[in-house]
Amino acid sequence: MAKKYSEPTHAIQHERVFLVGVQLQSQASLLTVEDSLSELALLSDTAGLEVVGTTTQRLDRPFPKTFIGPGKIEEVQALIRELDAQMVIFDDELSPRHQRELEEIFGDKVRVLDRTALILDIFAQHAQTREGILQVELAQYEYRLPRLTRAWTHLARQAGGKGSLSGVGLRGPGETQLEVDRRDISRRIDHLKAELEKVRAHRERHRNQRRKSELPVVAVVGYTNAGKSTLLNRLAGADVYVANQLFATLDPTTRRVELPGGHLALFTDTVGFIQKLPTGLVAAFRATLEEIAEADMLLHVLDITHPNVHAQAEAVLQTLEELNADHIPILTVLNKIDQLPDPEGARTSVAGNSDAVAISALKGEGHTDLLDAINRKLYESFEQVSVRLSYQEGGLQALFRQQGQVDRVEHDRNDVIMYGRIPGRLLARFQPFIQMESHVGSI
Ligand code: GTP
Repeated sequence: MAKKYSEPTHAIQHERVFLVGVQLQSQASLLTVEDSLSELALLSDTAGLEVVGTTTQRLDRPFPKTFIGPGKIEEVQALIRELDAQMVIFDDELSPRHQRELEEIFGDKVRVLDRTALILDIFAQHAQTREGILQVELAQYEYRLPRLTRAWTHLARQAGGKGSLSGVGLRGPGETQLEVDRRDISRRIDHLKAELEKVRAHRERHRNQRRKSELPVVAVVGYTNAGKSTLLNRLAGADVYVANQLFATLDPTTRRVELPGGHLALFTDTVGFIQKLPTGLVAAFRATLEEIAEADMLLHVLDITHPNVHAQAEAVLQTLEELNADHIPILTVLNKIDQLPDPEGARTSVAGNSDAVAISALKGEGHTDLLDAINRKLYESFEQVSVRLSYQEGGLQALFRQQGQVDRVEHDRNDVIMYGRIPGRLLARFQPFIQMESHVGSI
């Protein structure tokens, strides 16, 4: 079904885009094609583009040359002409071949992009730290290298910096230039990788210092726009950028927060997750995202008012699994209850649940419940475990004895096996040594 939006939502200088979504029978997806397309429209809006129309198609599998079928192509061609669109964005990642063929068909005046390129552009607009900027630039070049069809004359404008959609698709003189461009890009990729290594070595030293501080680290995770930055601001009185946009926060921010009873914890905000997060991007941001895997506890912030809250939660949990962070104790934070008809009802419905809390990060409702729940998870809940530690892990053995309760100790040739209970905040630290069968949950 094709839809036209007659009311322009942006000033005329913004590029007019037409969106195409495909429901593939061969591919399980978290959202319906319509909902995924609405999300793509939000992403386009965040990138400063004006969505003038959309269309969807259901297919068993993509057409090998053009992704969508010939009838659909004709329809899109007619609509982009009628609506004067300068760009077509596909909701799925296009192969280099698809992109080439489609550009050929739609002609020079219309650019063809996909969701990945759009997300990369938004990331480029929002990256602030040196590492963030390098990571995005690297991901952009890696994405573009196999897609270079015709030479680009101004490579410097193609990646990095503040957004680059305006530069996409600049075409230059010819084949030889194309080869030069490919070589330039490959060289640039090597350079960026080397730079990133340096920045990461520096950050690793920083992280080690933080670990030495012995303060538990709480990573705030969630779908993009769930309210993570708003929550961190409320918790820490921090000045983190909040915007009703997707991926407003790209670089991790860490703040110290005082919990009830005077305990301190470090809270870190992270990049928002999204369904169909391109694997290349997850790889590019792996170093940043790995901070999540090293946290002692996760706060999973959900926008409880969003119609697709379940699919969003699922997308977050899947990404956590990919990052090997699914073993970390997690507190689910149902946010934006001020938008519900009965905010109090929402709070009481989770009152007996130690794994969930209902709040409004914006208005402050449930703030004390949240801090209490974090405190309980970190300091008052104990987990029954058995851990196998080598004799070299003397530090962890001592930590178990000091902060946990040891029920029994066994020795064999290489290892000590300790049975007992440890506080929830130490679970992540002991995770690599936990023997699965005895991990029986919290008490
Ligand atoms: P990303 O940076 O995209 O990952 O977003 P985020 O999860 O950090 O969300 P952010 O804190 O930027 O909030 C997104 C939008 O939701 C902003 O417009 C906030 O004002 C709004 N918001 C956050 N918390 C609440 C809340 O409790 N109630 C209401 N009504 N709005 C909220």
